[in-house]
Amino acid sequence: MLRRLGNTDLDVSPVAMGCWPIAGMTSVNVNDEDSRRTLRAALDAGINFFDTAYGYGRNGESERLIAQALSNDRDRIVLATKGGMHWDEQGQRVLCARPETLRRECERSLQRLNTTHVDLLYLHAPDPDVPVAESAGALKALLDEGKTRAVGASNLDTEQLDRFAAECPLAAVQPPYNMLQREIEQDILPWCRRHDVAAVVYWPLMKGLLAGKLRRDHRFAAGDSRAKYPMFQGEQWQRNQDFVDRLREIAAAHQRTVAQLVVAWTIRREGITAALCGAKRAHQIEETAAAMQWQLDEETRAKVDQALREREAQEAS
Ligand SMILES: NC(=O)c1ccc[n+]([C@@H]2O[C@H](COP(=O)([O-])OP(=O)(O)OC[C@H]3O[C@@H](n4cnc5c(N)ncnc54)[C@H](OP(=O)(O)O)[C@@H]3O)[C@@H](O)[C@H]2O)c1
Repeated sequence: MLRRLGNTDLDVSPVAMGCWPIAGMTSVNVNDEDSRRTLRAALDAGINFFDTAYGYGRNGESERLIAQALSNDRDRIVLATKGGMHWDEQGQRVLCARPETLRRECERSLQRLNTTHVDLLYLHAPDPDVPVAESAGALKALLDEGKTRAVGASNLDTEQLDRFAAECPLAAVQPPYNMLQREIEQDILPWCRRHDVAAVVYWPLMKGLLAGKLRRDHRFAAGDSRAKYPMFQGEQWQRNQDFVDRLREIAAAHQRTVAQLVVAWTIRREGITAALCGAKRAHQIEETAAAMQWQLDEETRAKVDQALREREAQEAS
């Protein structure tokens, strides 16, 4: 069930645990005990790939929780973190990918994670004030020093990826991808195929929209960041709910859930190495991890494709 991560010797589960929700910044009702339980549940459910970042939490909450929950199993997991994004005192997101910042954040991440090295260290996002090649050079130095076993890049376009890869061996990219956001099929995925680089995608569940549990009349609690995304608003929200209803019918015919159909579809798309499924409760990650065992048959895939075509046609009209 494990898959090779690009040109490395790392093997990862196609469902990876996304450790942003447990940082508790944009998800509501998060607590440390549930978060640790969720991390353990992910491991027990066959997930070995954990994705965090220096900036997941104002003060490294996500990395610290991973250390608390998984330190004893460090050699069983593939641990990925990122550098180059943090929060300022006003709570604003800051992109800073200067070489000295990337080095400092990496050292800090290793302390928080209670480990000598991570398996994969990404540039979190390009810094508009720093040439991508400079950030890549800093990550190459950390790779050479053994602070990470492989390097990745997140949120870069293909031109930036070219510049990055000229300075530093690249094992993985990390862009957004889900049934409703498939732009990377046009450029990033072909680039990955050409360069033998893994595609590890975020937002497979579109922040819960495609998990199938939010009702049409759902009201987001104060502090839930999803309210600001157009996909969760107005007509788009209603059309997305119609789409989720179609998926629910398809999944129910196999006694499966919408989330499982969505994740099973995503991890078997050509060129996708792993999907980062966020969770803040054990039952959520147990549900999505079970998608690894579901091989969609041709008839089911055809039904999903039909639903997608109709959804796309609505969007275009
Ligand atoms: N590189 C980057 O710039 C970047 C950006 C974004 C994310 N990421 C990575 O990608 C991961 C995934 O993104 P994400 O966590 O934002 O979103 P996501 O995986 O698309 O959605 C996660 C949310 O969906 C809901 N959910 C998950 N499983 C569910 C289930 N079985 N039943 C019902 N609801 C369920 C939960 O929301 P509620 O329980 O709150 O409803 C959960 O917080 C992140 O954790 C992070 O590791 C990277």
